[in-house]
Amino acid sequence: MPSFFDAMILVRNSTVRQIAGFGIVALFFSNAALGQSGRLNSVPPSNPQLASPAIERRVDELLSKMTLAEKLGQLVQYDDSGYPTANPNLLALNPTTHVRVDAMQLAATGRVGSMLNVVGAERTNALQRAAVQQSRLHIPLLFGADIIHGFRTVYPEPLGLAATFDPKLAMALTRMAAEEATTAGVRWSYSPMVDISRDPRWGRTREGAGEDPYLGAAMASAYVHGYQDDDLSLPDSVAACVKHFAAYGAVEAGREYNTTDMSESRLRQVYLPPYEAAVKAGVATVMSAFTSFNGVPVTANRFLLHTVLRDEWGFNGLVVSDYSAVSELQNHGIALDGATATRKAILAGVDIDMMSHYYDTYLPELVRTGQVPMSVVNEAVRRVLRVKFALGLFEHPYARGKEVTAAVPEHRPLVRRAAEESFVLLRNYRTQQNDPLLPLSERAHKIALVGPLADNPGAMTGGWGNGPEYHDVVTVRAALEARAKQYGGSLLYVKGTDVSGNSEAGFAAAVGAAKRADIVILAVGEAGWMSGEGGSRTDLDLPGNQRKLLQVIAATGRPIVLLVFSGRPLVLTWAAHHIPAIMEVWFPGTEAGTAIADVLYGDVSPSGKLPMSFPWTVGQEPLYYNHFPTGRPATGIDLMLPPGPDSRYVSRYIDAPNAALFPFGYGLSYTRFTYGAVSLSRHSIPLHEANIQNTRDLVTATSLVTNAGDRTATEVVQCYVRNIGASIEQPVRSLKGFQRVTLKPGESKSISFNLGRPELSFYNQAGKETIEATHYTVWIGGSSLATESAHFNITP
Ligand code: BGC
Repeated sequence: MPSFFDAMILVRNSTVRQIAGFGIVALFFSNAALGQSGRLNSVPPSNPQLASPAIERRVDELLSKMTLAEKLGQLVQYDDSGYPTANPNLLALNPTTHVRVDAMQLAATGRVGSMLNVVGAERTNALQRAAVQQSRLHIPLLFGADIIHGFRTVYPEPLGLAATFDPKLAMALTRMAAEEATTAGVRWSYSPMVDISRDPRWGRTREGAGEDPYLGAAMASAYVHGYQDDDLSLPDSVAACVKHFAAYGAVEAGREYNTTDMSESRLRQVYLPPYEAAVKAGVATVMSAFTSFNGVPVTANRFLLHTVLRDEWGFNGLVVSDYSAVSELQNHGIALDGATATRKAILAGVDIDMMSHYYDTYLPELVRTGQVPMSVVNEAVRRVLRVKFALGLFEHPYARGKEVTAAVPEHRPLVRRAAEESFVLLRNYRTQQNDPLLPLSERAHKIALVGPLADNPGAMTGGWGNGPEYHDVVTVRAALEARAKQYGGSLLYVKGTDVSGNSEAGFAAAVGAAKRADIVILAVGEAGWMSGEGGSRTDLDLPGNQRKLLQVIAATGRPIVLLVFSGRPLVLTWAAHHIPAIMEVWFPGTEAGTAIADVLYGDVSPSGKLPMSFPWTVGQEPLYYNHFPTGRPATGIDLMLPPGPDSRYVSRYIDAPNAALFPFGYGLSYTRFTYGAVSLSRHSIPLHEANIQNTRDLVTATSLVTNAGDRTATEVVQCYVRNIGASIEQPVRSLKGFQRVTLKPGESKSISFNLGRPELSFYNQAGKETIEATHYTVWIGGSSLATESAHFNITP
């Protein structure tokens, strides 16, 4: 069976063939292959369509007619909140800018090239008409928007979607989102967000795929293929935007917008792979991060934006700053004035200034005085125009088809499946392993449904749920009432408390309902606004008094199923020790309730696996499974006991375990999967063979996976690798493959993983990718705690 990356290569090859079929060749010698330094890159341009000579001719011709003001127009991006045509219905919440522009008037005069978060056929078409019909050169606007997890039919937030370990599903979902969004005029999605996050205090954890670079890369690639459909010119394709390049997720202490500072090997090995995967998938645009990296804000960081992105990866799309990030260079303290901020950003490689109003203000003088060469401006404009030509905007500038304004009935099954696959069953037994509480029996009974998230449609779509389409959402209450009716049971709903706040006024009714019920389903967690941008927390417990509500209901002795809605790992330690069944459901989207009912009643067995470690306590953060070893490991020590004379001077806490409460890759099923011994196709590989660039299939690892239970179910089979003896420390284990496998009761299947250079290489102290003559261990299993293993060597 091909690995995920093999599958992606197949897609990619077919794309190249398809594009070559349109006569687009001679990729290497276009301007796109030339960096600003003018040197010829050794890597091919990342997106062949953007390197098309036919497009380049059109760009040349148009560029030759443009005034400097018109060029700078292409390099600025505004929303529609300016006077006097203010549009109150912007898609995303951003800080109010201090600069107000009249976007309509700018569009009519060719002084704006793209707009953000203006959605809807009526408004985008009106602005587009101004640009196309009134401006001198008729250059169309490009409308970008935060279509993060669906447009009107909403699927789980990216962290939840990552728990599916199902990139093909992610591809289908982003394709669906593109089809919907293009009817509202949007041809550019500010997604995927692929920032690796190892610290759930950071609120934006929920927007990415979690802590692992391999999973992150697989999801990043899938999102891009889905949005762009490997052909930007299709009317229902949107240009993807991989963000926030780079390493935004490493903000110190999880505090939003804080500093990032790390070694180059960590950058390359942990943080860059998902962005690189997106570039390899042909992503048309990149957004620069707000944060500073090793002392240089990314928006002025030529090493990242140029050396890595353009020279090493051959990225030939455009780079847009994040919201007002160019002006924020002054706050970072690396620019005394707006002109310096502008000069640093454009010279570093930021093509479009989102919302700062700096490029149009300061570049005329910077160009006149030669501080910014005209060639740099021209190249930035070229990159913008290439994307517009590739999207076919000059031919089809307006919103296509009938506008989608509500969840699409035909799309509901897909988002329902996505939600079902995203749920992670964390615990499911009363007192003994063999006494599961879930699935619920159809004959059940009297159910008490309690909690602030049980009947809260707004919260189901999380933070980027795209407006007030809450009537589209199926809540847990609605879905369980329908089931109760179907099965002749009864459902008693009591809210109990709010997500935040301390009032216990609802506790008595909740306890009363619990006492009258056979089983209690408690829907608790975070509100959508508690994570996402600006949503950093120092406390990862259930907010408000929800834990207290949980405790008073647990005191009734009724069996409880806990549904946890959150945009991040929470601390569930008390619940893990007192509540028989716990399921993490993230923010599931439009079909939240139906999907939850499907899993609770066992129509579908849960198959989600954690994309991030859930800690025992917030003080363990940042906590991630693929950490480095230490010189004083706590191996073999009972970390639940206070340190004794022989266990104090080891790497441990004196008040908490080292490990996660629920580790990366973990998730239960309604069945039980067993793993046979791992076998390898070979045990010794000569170094010269391993170090051939892009060598794949150096060794194949196989394990027999068996469904030892009595239900058909899907398992995410995972392959981990450890490398010891190298010149630089390597993680205690790293994910290097995964497959979703569905097995009937009693069925077994041999599952194999091909490990090649991409899986076995690492970055040395010089920041170079390499393989050395070392020893490897391979594990195959159902989580990062997999125990079945085998060994091989790379020989000198
Ligand atoms: C966020 C980006 C988003 C942009 C446009 C910024 O505040 O960091 O992720 O795409 O706003 O809404």
